[in-house]
Amino acid sequence: MAWYKDWFNSPYYHILYGQHSDAEAALFINNLSVLLGFEDHQDALDLACGKGRHSKQLASLKLNVTGIDLSEESIKAAQVFASNYLNFEVHDMRIVYKKMNFDYVFNLFTSFGYFSNPDDNITTLAAVKENLKSNGRFIQDYFNAPYIIKQLVGQHEINTGGILFKITKEIKDHKIIKTIEFNDQGEHFQFSEVVDLLTLSDFEFLYQQAGLKITHIFGDYHLGHYDPNESKRLILISEPI
Ligand SMILES: C[S@@+](CC[C@H](N)C(=O)[O-])C[C@H]1O[C@@H](n2cnc3c(N)ncnc32)[C@H](O)[C@@H]1O
Repeated sequence: MAWYKDWFNSPYYHILYGQHSDAEAALFINNLSVLLGFEDHQDALDLACGKGRHSKQLASLKLNVTGIDLSEESIKAAQVFASNYLNFEVHDMRIVYKKMNFDYVFNLFTSFGYFSNPDDNITTLAAVKENLKSNGRFIQDYFNAPYIIKQLVGQHEINTGGILFKITKEIKDHKIIKTIEFNDQGEHFQFSEVVDLLTLSDFEFLYQQAGLKITHIFGDYHLGHYDPNESKRLILISEPI
């Protein structure tokens, strides 16, 4: 099974990344709302929404929101928050969800660059473009690869939620490979994350191929300036060409 189907569907992903909270999502979405000028009942698609922390915030700002994700467990957890203006569905982001339907498509918190076939990156971005109305916007939030490489610590441990996670990171073939090992209730677990180290120029190339034009670049959730060496995030806003 592909690593991302297994790991993101497990409860342990949510324990390890628990500090990336609803509050972090609210801060980011509120800043985007000011920048983009969300209007009531505009249509938004949250691609790879996980348990829906950004979708919930978008719906609270009166957008009509659909969150989609490959993980059945995450969508089940998100559906607890569903309403007339907020719905969630299991769906693969490589496949167009609804043609020319959305004012905004979001892909947040490094929910990209996972595929073993590199063509799937283009397939996903081409599907994003198809989902957008002609005047729609795509907002993508990825890690900043040069910063990740600079800050790389080979091994470390995180003790959270009663579990000691032993994490090993290495860089191979333009990817970061994170191995996560731990014991829980007498059982040993091992998961991995394998994510493309895509840089701004990689995205520029991919977006051009997919027919998207970058209009804004930011380096953090406050929408601060992007500095390739210092920024933690690479946040891109684009529109169909
Ligand atoms: C790092 S998590 C981020 C989740 C969410 N955006 C957040 O910020 O909490 C990445 C998500 O991508 C989803 N995912 C991976 N591949 C996918 C695909 N092909 N289509 C839809 N979702 C996918 C995973 O199931 C996981 O929920």
